[in-house]
Amino acid sequence: MLPPFRSSEAATQYTITAQKSTAPITNGETAATAIWGYNGEVPGPVLRVTQGEQLNVRLVNELEQPTSVHWHGIRIVNNMDGSPLVQDPVAPGESFDYQFIAPDAGTYWYHTHTRGFEQMTRGLYGMLIVDEKIPTDDAFDDELLLVFDDWRLGDDGQIEEESIGAMMHRSHAGRMGNWGSVNGRNKPTIEALAGSRLRARLVNVCNARILNITFGELASWIIALDGQPTAKVSSLSTPLELAPGQRADLVIDIPKEPDATFLVGVKVRDTVYEAAYLKVKPGDSTRAARPAPVPLPANPLHASELNLDKPQPVKLHMLGGAMGSMSEARLGGKMVDIRSLVQQGKAWAFNGISDMDKSPDPLFSVTRGTTVTVDMFNDTRWPHAMHVHGHHFKVISKEGVKVDPGPWRDTHLMQPAERHTIALLADNPGDWLMHCHMVDHAASGMTGWFQVT
Ligand code: C2O
Ligand code: CU
Repeated sequence: MLPPFRSSEAATQYTITAQKSTAPITNGETAATAIWGYNGEVPGPVLRVTQGEQLNVRLVNELEQPTSVHWHGIRIVNNMDGSPLVQDPVAPGESFDYQFIAPDAGTYWYHTHTRGFEQMTRGLYGMLIVDEKIPTDDAFDDELLLVFDDWRLGDDGQIEEESIGAMMHRSHAGRMGNWGSVNGRNKPTIEALAGSRLRARLVNVCNARILNITFGELASWIIALDGQPTAKVSSLSTPLELAPGQRADLVIDIPKEPDATFLVGVKVRDTVYEAAYLKVKPGDSTRAARPAPVPLPANPLHASELNLDKPQPVKLHMLGGAMGSMSEARLGGKMVDIRSLVQQGKAWAFNGISDMDKSPDPLFSVTRGTTVTVDMFNDTRWPHAMHVHGHHFKVISKEGVKVDPGPWRDTHLMQPAERHTIALLADNPGDWLMHCHMVDHAASGMTGWFQVT
């Protein structure tokens, strides 16, 4: 049985050491898998801090290649963002002290932002929880942390090396695994107290796999997406779609029957695959039923601050990939044809520029406080999980038709041929990445940047 992957107390000081280790990913079906993990674990340790307090994390690099940490979803001070725009990766044997204040409570995660297509694949990620300043503990009996990953392993249980960074995956849907894991283990059984109300925190850390997660008959409600509380509590009736990088917070009520087991599944077309089991252990059977869940306290992110009457419009044309129509793109300041793009490991472009993050010209540059709308057109045959650093955004139109602005997100899934417009308040000064979170796509051209001055 998997020891409950629950969180520590909020603290302000941590050390995470990126190092080689092994982990029982296949849950005993094969030898343990050689991984790279923070403190030798996968997922890395749960980092937890209270909203508004400074978090100090020392990254120690014991790997043989440089590395860095990005704090996914945190509206962070720019120089602590960990992206290559703001930080040289930490050399082997060196360390770096990250210090920042997390303004928003919620469920976040941290991961390497150096050679993600290799380093994330090998296990360099973990959960980051920002506790509400006004404690919400009374609303829940316990927490259930669920970190979903997939691993591409050979029969010996070891990572299939030749697929890391392979052009085949870069130019298609991305590198998919053949073993699922929840909290670093295939099909773990996790115990939950009978009659308890859980706050589940889910994150999809897969390289490329879009997950549709089901909780069977368990009563569950959505209370936050990408860390940000939803205005209303909605009950989860269909599978929950989580694209790479996305998170969700759910309320789950565990029934009172001890020894019952519930399936956490991943639905692919009509089949539900087992991801984990929740096993009910005896609890307090006299506990009164809980009232319907209520929304979490709002974060200091206000929709009213979006100036949708006079935004600065930006277009983002996403092009490339297998079966796409891209014939050439700018790379390193030169126009190159698709053949030589592929020879250089590139397959994608934003607005005709592959690897825009390495170009001196940003996608847009605005003064602080500007509302920017980004009209994103996925002119490819593949889905992409579009992630914005340092900001959250709302989807305001689809296929040119205005929609009710959805919840605040930091990652948004675009299916092939979709055209969605997002709106963000560019209020966090600095240089920020905007990229596909399918890490093989990000490494092969699908990374841009913007500037807030
Ligand atoms: Cu979670 Cu730039 O990434
Ligand atoms: Cu992509």
